[in-house]
Amino acid sequence: MTPSSRFTGFYELPLADRVERVAQWADLSTAEATALGRGMGLDLARADDMIENVIGLHALPLGIAVNFLINGRDVLVPMAIEEPSVVAGASFAAKLVRAGGGFQATAAPSEMIGQIQVLNVADPHSARFDILAAREELLALADETDPLLLRLGGGARELEVRILSATPVGPMLIVHLIFDCRDAMGANVVNTACESLAPRIEEITGGRTRLRILSNLADRRLARARCRVPAEALAFQGFSGEEVVQNIVDASAFAAADPYRAATHNKGIMNGVDAVVLATGNDWRAVEAGAHAYAGRGRGYRSLSTWAQDVRGELAGTLEMPVAAGIVGGATQVHPTARLALKILGAETAQELAQVIVAVGLAQNLAALRALATEGIQRGHMQLHARQVAMAAGAQGQEIRQVAEALIERGEIRQDHAAAILEDVHGE
Ligand code: MEV
Repeated sequence: MTPSSRFTGFYELPLADRVERVAQWADLSTAEATALGRGMGLDLARADDMIENVIGLHALPLGIAVNFLINGRDVLVPMAIEEPSVVAGASFAAKLVRAGGGFQATAAPSEMIGQIQVLNVADPHSARFDILAAREELLALADETDPLLLRLGGGARELEVRILSATPVGPMLIVHLIFDCRDAMGANVVNTACESLAPRIEEITGGRTRLRILSNLADRRLARARCRVPAEALAFQGFSGEEVVQNIVDASAFAAADPYRAATHNKGIMNGVDAVVLATGNDWRAVEAGAHAYAGRGRGYRSLSTWAQDVRGELAGTLEMPVAAGIVGGATQVHPTARLALKILGAETAQELAQVIVAVGLAQNLAALRALATEGIQRGHMQLHARQVAMAAGAQGQEIRQVAEALIERGEIRQDHAAAILEDVHGE
């Protein structure tokens, strides 16, 4: 049985002890723990194999969000992010949600959509029928793309044909190939399958194919998370639990009605989502594109989550969004830290990873709304911001806390003040 992820006082431990605790929890080898603790992830040689024109590495902090209980499983969540408060916010919200039984999450099969654009078709409606009539043949052809994936239960699932009749270059047919990528994100296999179908589609339609590429609006690959928080767990300073529930529901209504607020609300969700996507070596641009396109479907751009008061007076939250992320392929296995992050997460399938990602998005959203709907976020942010300004002014080790505290006392978090305070500290 997995031990509890409810780590009290984790943030107060020295870094080496945090590594030790996580290593024990996730059964990391000594070499793996050492690599983490010394910040030795990707090396230059590996980086040079990953992209072009490499001249160095660009590192990010890797934090662990604690307290997550997802579908009854305790999870420690690795998050790669430069923004202060995010890891603390996720951990705090996960603690609140634990009081309501944890997150329930689901993820649809890993079905991606590949698009093939067909131009110069004399009669698009007849051509559409012709493609649909060749469904079996085309799906079988697409299945030849990756025999291993086929053996693992993946492969082509469906063919859809849409007609875009009013484009500036005339009507076009858009063929959608639905392809189950199992544990991969799937961009490569879907793009290859689309390219392999194109010549046969030209023969069938007499048209010319142009783009052959996956769609990042992965709306068949939806992940959903929900949670409940008892009102009393939300009581905070002068705010009763009931007040906090109501204030969060008000905030949710604002984001549902206004795209200006929805963009920021969703950004808060993506703070959590992206950090896990990045830590696990997945393509965060793809997940971002999918999330915002999904938020913009239908009648205008909306929030991806909802918060309501349930019949028992508890706060009930839901989040639904596409999550195209995998545990094999791409950087997930090539990047040593991503491999470790996946090991710590313990996700055995891409769907399980998507469930964690969407739960963390919901937690992050809750943390932000709870702060915004009560005291505001600036007090907490300022403390962390002060530390960053102190570091930017050159403070190191113990000095960082000293300078940050002095900045907060002064009430103005400015780098010139930080430099002056640091000089005094050095003078002492
Ligand atoms: C900041 O990174 C994220 C928030 O703006 C999210 C929100 O407003 O809901 C705090």
